[in-house]
Amino acid sequence: MNDVVVLNKKETIALIQIQNSPVNALSHAVRQGLMEAVRESLEDPAIKVLAITGSGKFFSAGADIQEFGKPSLEPQLPQICNAIESCSKPVFALINGTALGGGFELGLSAHFRVATVSAKIGLPEIHLGLLPGSGGTQRLPRIIGADKALKMMLNGQPVSAGEGLAYGMIDRVEESGELISASMDFMLETTAGKHPRIPTRERTEGLQDEAANHVAIGEHRNTWQKKGKGLYSPFQIIDCVEKALSTPFEEGLKYERESFARCLESPQRKGLIHAFFAERRCRKIPELREIEPRKLERLAVIGGGTMGGGIAVAALDAGLEVMMVERDEAGLEKGRLNVEKVYDRHISKGRMGPEDKKEVLERFIPSTDFERITDADMVIEAVFEEMEVKKEVFRILDQYARQGAVLASNTSYLDIDEIASVTSRPEEVLGLHFFSPANIMKLLEIVVPSGLSNEVLATGFALGNRMGKVPVRSANSEGFIGNRILGAYSKVAGYMMEDGTSPYRIDEAVRDFGYPIGPFQMFDLAGGDIGWANRKRKATTRDPRERYVEIADRLCERGWFGQKTGRGFYFYEEGSRIGIEDPEVLDIIDMYGIRKIVEDIEEFSVEDPFFWKPSELLKTMAAQGQTFEDLNL
Ligand code: 3HC
Ligand code: NAI
Repeated sequence: MNDVVVLNKKETIALIQIQNSPVNALSHAVRQGLMEAVRESLEDPAIKVLAITGSGKFFSAGADIQEFGKPSLEPQLPQICNAIESCSKPVFALINGTALGGGFELGLSAHFRVATVSAKIGLPEIHLGLLPGSGGTQRLPRIIGADKALKMMLNGQPVSAGEGLAYGMIDRVEESGELISASMDFMLETTAGKHPRIPTRERTEGLQDEAANHVAIGEHRNTWQKKGKGLYSPFQIIDCVEKALSTPFEEGLKYERESFARCLESPQRKGLIHAFFAERRCRKIPELREIEPRKLERLAVIGGGTMGGGIAVAALDAGLEVMMVERDEAGLEKGRLNVEKVYDRHISKGRMGPEDKKEVLERFIPSTDFERITDADMVIEAVFEEMEVKKEVFRILDQYARQGAVLASNTSYLDIDEIASVTSRPEEVLGLHFFSPANIMKLLEIVVPSGLSNEVLATGFALGNRMGKVPVRSANSEGFIGNRILGAYSKVAGYMMEDGTSPYRIDEAVRDFGYPIGPFQMFDLAGGDIGWANRKRKATTRDPRERYVEIADRLCERGWFGQKTGRGFYFYEEGSRIGIEDPEVLDIIDMYGIRKIVEDIEEFSVEDPFFWKPSELLKTMAAQGQTFEDLNL
C-alpha cells in the first residue's frame, strides 16, 4: 500500500487501516491506498472479509478539504465507494471514532457498519457550502428515510453511535475500545453466510413510506425557503434526496455528482472553506507555541448585565466555577436572573431538566462583595462602558485579585492600556471582547495591549478554546475588529433611515438577503446605550465633514436602549424578545430638522436658484441647531 493506508491480513480477514493524521482525511494518497487495498484483498483467494477502519480518535473526517478547488485526481471518492459496495466479498466499516462527510459515506458503501460507543457520525458538508457528494444523498435515505437523512445533512451536526443504531444506519455498537477484536465474531459469521451481504443501493427500508418521505421533502424545503434565503447548498441537498426517492440509484448518483460540482464551483463554498481554515489558523499564535496557559478553574465576572450574564453562562457551560459580583443587591438579582433565564429556556425547550440546572448553578456564586474574587484564576469585567467606572473597578480588582490572576475587560471600545494603567500589574491585563449573546456567539476578540505577558495571552486563548469560541487576536485599537466593521454597516443603515426608509424595512431587506437579524434588531439586542456612550465620547473629535445621524441619540435620551429596557427601535411586550414595530419611533424619525431642510433647499437651488432660496432665519437656525419650538421661547 502506502504510508497512509495499511493492509494487514489476519487469516481470512483483510484489515485496511487509514493512518493519515490528524483526522484521516481522504486525501489523494489515502484514496489510492484504499483502492489498491480493496483490489488486493479481492484478488487474494484466502481473504473472505474486508474490514476498513481508522486510527486514533478518527475513522475519517471526510474528503481532504485542502484539495477542493484543485484539479481532482483519480481515484475519486465516489469510485472507491462504488468499488466497495459492489465487492463480491462482505465489507465491514469498523467505525472506531469520528466519521464525517466522505468518511461516513465510505462507511455507508460498506455492507456492515460496527461503531464504537463513543463514535460520532455526521454529514457536515453543508457547513462548507457543499453536499454529501460520494453517494451520501442517495444511500442514506434508502436506509433511514428522507426526514432523518435530511435532518442529518441540513443541520450538519453529528449523531452518536447509539442514535445511528436506532436509525438503522449502524448495525452494531460495541462498548469495547478494541473494535477489531470485538467485531471478529460478527465478521466471521458472514463468511458462514449467516448475515446476507446487501449493497446499500439495494436497500429499501427508508423508501417504504412514500407519503412520509414526500411530506418530509416539502417541509424541509419550506423551512429552508424561510431560513436559508440566499444559500445554495441546502436546496441542492433537498433536490438530491428527492431524486433518491424517485429515480434509479445510478441516475440519482449522477445527479448528486453534478450538484456537488455546482456547489464546489460556488463562491459560497469558497468563502466557507476559507472561513474553515481561517478559524483554525487564528488560534495559532506564533509567540505562544512554547507557552503554557495558566490554571483556569475559577472565573469571576464583574457586572451581571447583558454581557456579564452571558459570559457567566458561557463559563458555567465550559465547566468553570463562576463568581458574579454586582454593585448592589438589585443588580445582583438581575444578574442572577440573566443567568437563570438561559437555563429556564433550555428547560422549557426540553434541552435540559430542572435537575441539570440545579447541578450547573451549584458552580455559580453571586455576590456583592469584591472580596469573593480573591481565589479567582481570572476576572472579567463587564460593567458600564465608561472609562472612569472601569478604572475604579480595576483599582478594586488590583486590590483583591490574587497574584497571578488574569484581569480582563470586556470593553467594546475603550483603550485597554489606559484601563491597565491604574493597576500595579498592567502586564496581566488584557481585553476579552465577547459578542452578545455571549453564551452563543462564537467570536471572542483577544485584545492585546502593550507589554502583555505571553502567559496571560495564552490563558485568554485557553479560555476561548474551552468555551468553544473562535478566539481572534486583535490590536488594542478603536473598536478592535468586529466593531470597526460594524461601524461602517451601522453608519449606512443610519443614513438610509434618515433618508426616508423605515428601520423595519431595512431590517427586513437585510433578513431577506440572508442575515438572521437586521441592524436595528441587532442594536436593540446589544443595547443602544453602548453605542451612545461611544458616540458621546467621540463627539468632540468627530470630523465636522462627517454626516451624523441623531435618531439613535433621540431614542437613547428617552431611555430606550432596546430589549433590556423593553423599548428601542422596536417595542417589546413584557418578557418578550420579539420586537414589534413602534409608530412613536417612526414619528421621531420624521422629525426632519431645520439643518436638513436648509441643506435640501441649497441642493435644489443648483437647478433653480430663483425659486429655491432659504431664508436668513432658516439659515441662522440651522447654524445654531435651533428648532421652531425655540422661536416660542
Ligand atoms: N480535510 C483536511 N484537513 C482537515 C479536515 C478535512 N476534512 N478536517 C480537519 N482538518 C484539519 C484542520 O484544518 C486542522 O489542521 P491544522 O492542525 O493544520 O490547523 C486539523 O485537521 C485538526 O482539525 P481541528 O483543529 O478542527 O480539530 P478538532 O479535533 O477540533 O475537530 C473535526 C476535528 C471535527 C474533524 C473538525 O476538524 C471538522 O469538523 N472537520 C471538517 C469535517 C468535514 O466538514 N468533513 C466533510 C468534508 S467535505 C466531504 O467529505 C465531501 C464529500 O461528501 C465528498
Ligand atoms: P449592562 O448595562 O447590561 O450591564 C452592566 C452591569 O454592570 C449592570 O448590571 C451594572 O449594575 C453593573 N455594574 C456597574 N458598575 C458596577 C460596579 N462598579 N461593580 C459591579 N457591577 C457594576 O451593560 P452590558 O451591555 O452588559 O455591557 C457591559 C460591558 O460589555 C460594556 O463595557 C460594554 O461595552 C461591553 N460589551 C457590550 C456588548 C453588548 O452587546 N451589550 C458587546 C460586547 C461588549
